Amino acid sequence: MRVDILSIFPSFFDSIFSESLLKKAIEARVIDIQVHDIREYTKDKHRRTDDEPYGGGAGMVMTPQPIVSALEAITKDAPARRILLTPRGKPFRQSDAVRLSKEKRLLFVCGRYEGVDQRVTDGFIDEEISLGDFVLNGGEIAAAALVESIFRLLPGAVGNSESLETESFERGLLEYPHYTRPEDFQGMKVPDVLLSGHHKKIENWRREESLKQTAKVRPDLLSKSDAVSTQFSIALVHYPVLGKDGQPMVGSITTIDVHDMARIGRTYGARSVFIITPVEDQKIMVDRLKSHWIEGDFLKGEFERRVEALDIMETAGSVEIMLQKVKKRSKKVKILATSAIESPSSITPEEWRAKSCEADEWVILFGTAYGLAPELMEMADYQLSPIEGAGEFNHLPVRGASAIITDSLFGKRRRPGDERDN
Ligand SMILES: C[S@@+](CC[C@H](N)C(=O)[O-])C[C@H]1O[C@@H](n2cnc3c(N)ncnc32)[C@H](O)[C@@H]1O
Repeated sequence: MRVDILSIFPSFFDSIFSESLLKKAIEARVIDIQVHDIREYTKDKHRRTDDEPYGGGAGMVMTPQPIVSALEAITKDAPARRILLTPRGKPFRQSDAVRLSKEKRLLFVCGRYEGVDQRVTDGFIDEEISLGDFVLNGGEIAAAALVESIFRLLPGAVGNSESLETESFERGLLEYPHYTRPEDFQGMKVPDVLLSGHHKKIENWRREESLKQTAKVRPDLLSKSDAVSTQFSIALVHYPVLGKDGQPMVGSITTIDVHDMARIGRTYGARSVFIITPVEDQKIMVDRLKSHWIEGDFLKGEFERRVEALDIMETAGSVEIMLQKVKKRSKKVKILATSAIESPSSITPEEWRAKSCEADEWVILFGTAYGLAPELMEMADYQLSPIEGAGEFNHLPVRGASAIITDSLFGKRRRPGDERDN
């Protein structure tokens, strides 16, 4: 790969590029880095490369002529992907490093002062990249950071390519902690599991630590990580739920609930959607409704989706009976209860995601009427914190709450600016 860097402080890069693995990669011709002094290209008789901003304001702006003359001269024979380092750019991520490592040639423009004349960006730059949400004095450190993260992905740059695969961000998670000798450092011991020689246990421990660290400092990554793919079912509980007076009661089933819960489950990949009621007539009603759509001639045509969704619908006389059914296919089953009321032990969707590998299948309980009865809360392994709206009022219909919660746990999150494919 060839990299050209345009800067008014070219000597800035001397030490960075003459140390460690980057130096070796340059010597081995894995990467060829050329740093160019923007001043060499100015046509100003005082060799100036900046001027006052139009419209007034503090600081100076880098003039377009020297930068454009430089990048045109440098890319005369072979085109390069031209990148301007600027805090106004898209934040740099590992996925960008991977993408850019596939380019033949990159050209970085380092700004200084208040930045670069906008016409450079508009006419001559392919993309603007920021190192993060902070302001540096110049683009040199940002360019060096990009070079360092990109070159190590090039074939032949880093000895052990396996170490790249387990690194932070590779699977959408932060990496697990590392330990080396001594086993005991000032009373702090290396975790036993790492000394056990048991590869499967070590692998599980590392995965859990990775999830924990990501949940702690970067919960936003968890919702996008492929590493967190969880089997789950949802259950709409009609008994035991609480009535208006706080006493247990049996909720009654509506056909809209049945259709909507089935669609919610199907959309997010639930294995089953359970309707839980001890009332035999109501169970029969749901089963009839299901067989009406499934066995009727509806599979092709306008009701196709409805049938597809209802296919995962099941009934059970109680939460216990439902669990027995789920345990037939999944060894370790855990329950996540939902409520409109916060409890001291409630966990957020991000915290749940960090725990998601604790079970082979999760069952998410939603209560009709005034919510799940206390005994179900006790039976549950975790309780999810309530959905927060704009204010105090959070009395959502159970179908609405089910959709929002299922989305917050299993929906694919994207941040503005994310590419569709990463
Ligand atoms: C002092 S900064 C200019 C900041 C600019 N006035 C603003 O508020 O966006 C000077 C130069 O440093 C570089 N720079 C500063 N922060 C950066 C960041 N987070 N990522 C990449 N480049 C940065 C850019 O090349 C920028 O043109």
